[in-house]
Amino acid sequence: MLSQYLYISTAPNLSREEVDSILEASARNNPERGITGLLLYNGRNFLQLLEGEESALVALMVRIGNDPRHTGVSTLDRRKIEQRACPGWAMKRVIIAEKVAIRREQLERDLPEGLSEETRRIILNFATLN
Ligand SMILES: Cc1cc2nc3c(=O)[nH]c(=O)nc-3n(C[C@H](O)[C@H](O)[C@H](O)COP(=O)(O)O)c2cc1C
Repeated sequence: MLSQYLYISTAPNLSREEVDSILEASARNNPERGITGLLLYNGRNFLQLLEGEESALVALMVRIGNDPRHTGVSTLDRRKIEQRACPGWAMKRVIIAEKVAIRREQLERDLPEGLSEETRRIILNFATLN
């Protein structure tokens, strides 16, 4: 049985390189652990969706919770899922457009279809906040 975790955290002013290095670690580690997901960064906060076997997710959440690059990791949702929303992505970086007016439209296009309505709404709200 697969699980899906959704959390937010705080990381003011991380450089592009630091965010890239998080994505590199994800690409390096997640495939062998059967973890997939997506990551958004708005310059102040992360939102990450993680999916995989419960034991792999619990172990990763411990590592992520101890990572000094962010604080205040707060789980918004944990649920069992029948199938992955992000099967092809070790960790997809979802870009938030500069222009507020086009953010929603762009995200509607970029977010995977298999997300629940509720999860999709949380991600859209996060990404369209200013
Ligand atoms: C917001 C955030 C998301 C992260 N997501 C992942 C992830 O999906 N997979 C992963 O292996 N590491 C992730 N990390 C990095 C881990 O905290 C840790 O630095 C990394 O797993 C160490 O990998 P290494 O032992 O290969 O260097 C994330 C870190 C942050 C701050």
